[in-house]
Amino acid sequence: MVGARVKWSIGVGVAVAGVALIFLRRHFAGGFCHSNAMLTGKTVIITGANTGIGKETAIELAKRKAKVILACRDPERGREAEKDIRVKSGSEDVVYRHLDLASLSSVREFSKSVLQEEAHIDILINNAGIMACPQWRTEDGFEMQFGVNHLGHFLLTNLLLNKLKESPSVRIINVASLGYKYCKEVKFHDLNSEKDYEPYAVYYHSKLANVLFTRELARRLVGTNVTANSLHPGVIRTELGRHFMPNMNWFRKMLVYPFILLIFKTPYQGAQTTICCAVSEELERVSGKYFADCQEKELETEISQSDEAAKQLWTLSAKMVGLEENS
Ligand SMILES: *[C@@H]1O[C@H](CO)[C@@H](O)[C@H](O)[C@H]1NC(C)=O
Repeated sequence: MVGARVKWSIGVGVAVAGVALIFLRRHFAGGFCHSNAMLTGKTVIITGANTGIGKETAIELAKRKAKVILACRDPERGREAEKDIRVKSGSEDVVYRHLDLASLSSVREFSKSVLQEEAHIDILINNAGIMACPQWRTEDGFEMQFGVNHLGHFLLTNLLLNKLKESPSVRIINVASLGYKYCKEVKFHDLNSEKDYEPYAVYYHSKLANVLFTRELARRLVGTNVTANSLHPGVIRTELGRHFMPNMNWFRKMLVYPFILLIFKTPYQGAQTTICCAVSEELERVSGKYFADCQEKELETEISQSDEAAKQLWTLSAKMVGLEENS
């Protein structure tokens, strides 16, 4: 009975492939935050919280009873997100506040109003990011990716730092990317990428800046109750959609899409590492580290672990954003 044997083999083959797919999907989904810690009475600021992993993070932290401030650029999308996050989390303690990280004056205005209106800030999540855009400039003339991903957050964090230090237990979380490792040096003589502009290289450079900023920040915060960590959220479906898919025809999209569904994280999965870093009790005193898939990971390149580069980047960044230095 050859026919039956063939059918049987096909059946087994399909079953094995099915199990393998489920296994792979779980693998690529990364870890989950298993902590049940609540954030009652805590105030959280999340930049870029109107979409993607920022929004998922906001929903989760609002569910855990934190007051969540959505720091976003677009007022219409910000208010829309505020409404939606309130519904999805069941919490009214979610507020949109305008923050344009591509404008130093906006960063200063946002910080001023937060410092005036909030009694305390307990978690700052520097989540907003722009990836591989054309050679745009910020309001102050900085290259857009370095300006938004690094300089805007650098200034924001510094302006809030004294306030943060007043709370008994504070976490600063910088959403970087494993892209940091594709960048082998800091372009100290061309931080604005004026000499040559390759969109992805400049993105990776800005993510290396996030990692080095975290390093120097954590060093400066030793002896305080404030921790600073960076992380890789994973490769998320939203980002891909925004930057690759528009350039493809429908046939290519059909070929690529099954792989995207298999390999890339959903925004909910992509938010898990941030949520872990924000709530896990075990991480309360952990600082200066890098996380991915809800676990601490070693940094893989020499430059990303250079105290010297981290210090130099801090000094130059402070100068660029007009910050008084008092290390
Ligand atoms: C920092 O933490 C310690 C130990 O938990 C605590 O005694 C101290 O009051 C905290 N400092 C601030 C500024 O809250």
